[in-house]
Amino acid sequence: MNLKDKYIEFFVSKGHVQIPSAPIVPENDPSVLFNTAGMQPLIPYLMGQKHPLGDMLCDYQKCMRTTDLDEVGDKTHHTFFEMLGNWSLGAYFKKESITWSFEFLTKALEIPVNRLGVTVFGGDDKVPFDKEAHDLWLNLGISEGHIASTVEDNFWAAGETGPCGTDTEIFYFRSEDEIPEVFDTEDERWVEIWNNVFMEFIRDENGNISYLPKKNIDTGMGVERVVAVLEGKTDNYTSSLWIDVIKKIEEISGKKYEGNEKAFRIIADHIRTATFIAADNAGIKPSNKDQGYILRRLIRRMIRYAKKLDIDVNSDFDIELAKLIIDKYKSYYEELDKNKEVVFEVLTNEKVKFNRTLEKGLKEFEKVSNKDIDADTAFHLYDTFGFPIELTMELGEEKGIKVDYAGFKSKFKAHQELSRISSEGKFKGGLAGNSEIETRYHTATHLLNAALKITVSKDVHQRGSNINEERMRFDFNCDHKLTDEEIKNTEDLVNKWIDEDLTVTKEEMTKEEAINSGAECMFIEKYPDIVTVYSIGDVSKELCGGPHVSHTKEIGKFKITKEESVSSGIRRIKAIIE
Ligand code: SER
Repeated sequence: MNLKDKYIEFFVSKGHVQIPSAPIVPENDPSVLFNTAGMQPLIPYLMGQKHPLGDMLCDYQKCMRTTDLDEVGDKTHHTFFEMLGNWSLGAYFKKESITWSFEFLTKALEIPVNRLGVTVFGGDDKVPFDKEAHDLWLNLGISEGHIASTVEDNFWAAGETGPCGTDTEIFYFRSEDEIPEVFDTEDERWVEIWNNVFMEFIRDENGNISYLPKKNIDTGMGVERVVAVLEGKTDNYTSSLWIDVIKKIEEISGKKYEGNEKAFRIIADHIRTATFIAADNAGIKPSNKDQGYILRRLIRRMIRYAKKLDIDVNSDFDIELAKLIIDKYKSYYEELDKNKEVVFEVLTNEKVKFNRTLEKGLKEFEKVSNKDIDADTAFHLYDTFGFPIELTMELGEEKGIKVDYAGFKSKFKAHQELSRISSEGKFKGGLAGNSEIETRYHTATHLLNAALKITVSKDVHQRGSNINEERMRFDFNCDHKLTDEEIKNTEDLVNKWIDEDLTVTKEEMTKEEAINSGAECMFIEKYPDIVTVYSIGDVSKELCGGPHVSHTKEIGKFKITKEESVSSGIRRIKAIIE
């Protein structure tokens, strides 16, 4: 029996009712394009609404996380994945949840107890150390050394607002090495396989946490990861779950997986996701916005990588692969078989369109390639003709001309951020949209970040931000509530810099140069090798995709309207510009 079936059988035997997977395109939740976790379709019930099928539920849920799209190609990332979950809507809590997880892993999956490690919430100024979870694990037989605790990684929330809670995470020791006596969460041989959230809180828009009407349990286990882990594979795509797809691509391309891993993984992942999106009853078609845009990118990226494997992209290679996916999953998700003709049509139409665009792009390339290709031209080829930079580089090499790869990359980065924002329909990481007012807010964010380092502490760093046309929000680390004086000094300093009409300049450099120059940045590992750095006079220097005003006077008057706590050690400032 496979993992999914075992899981459902086990939790049904404990009194849960199996609920069907919700569609991958949420029916009643415009805040996200796709379901990103098993709990997402259950939010109204976690918040107190009565579920028609009872208060103990389990399922496998189709999920998608588009933020990872460009990471797909490595060993462990997927755009689409299935999440196993069991829920208690006020019926049971920590004891049963932990006991059943332990029983499922050690009895149903026969994992030796000493291969397991767990983390529990370590405690902060609001919520204490989770001694109950700790003791439950200990009594079940997990050794003291295999129980770790953290604060940040043991609090789970789907977003900034909504149901949330502390959690206990379960890890598996995936290695032939001797199992260490002490479980170290930094040791990569320990892989997280399950997350049990004790969902008893709700967080509101001001970051305040209060109790939900009932204490819920929300657990999540990613099928792809767990199957690979239990089979001892470090590369998900070599697990039994993927092997038939990989073999099929080998058959179609006449190439081996070894040596071509990235292209194989991208094709395998993207065809599966595209099949699920196109089969959804929502009737998504490739387009330039929202879910349709994601579908288009997936299909086009898959075709590009098929080309790399010398697959004839005018053939039915994609249909053959989609058929395999449909056969694999149709007994679990009935829409796949029902809508298979739609899937084939979507794939075929998009392929024809993309191949046509490619032809036009090749003609344009011939026109512009009588000299070296600068960033603007490379970007034009990409933007207007869907021409990937790798292709422009390859063709440039054949013709003996240079292509400004670095310049393209930085333009691409800015473009990608903007399209991600519009495709996700919400702001991520605080990057501004590009309306005039948002641009002004965006530059004000940089000034605020710089001012706080002077007025509060040099160790203040941005932890998040969010901008709309009405206001800006800025989260930063700080161990105390700001005093009235600190707030006033901060506001004054920002306004002083605005009055000085400082010049905003933009430079491109390597990531290393940016770090060495002391540029401020939130998640360095998320940036491409060539980055854009914005400086404001000599008061601020930050890695950023832009856009920004050119002189600070354009910002207008800056006013802090609120200062509050978001979570332990994190404060939030709300501000407006007038
Ligand atoms: N919601 C939690 C997660 O996604 C547990 O299901 O990890």
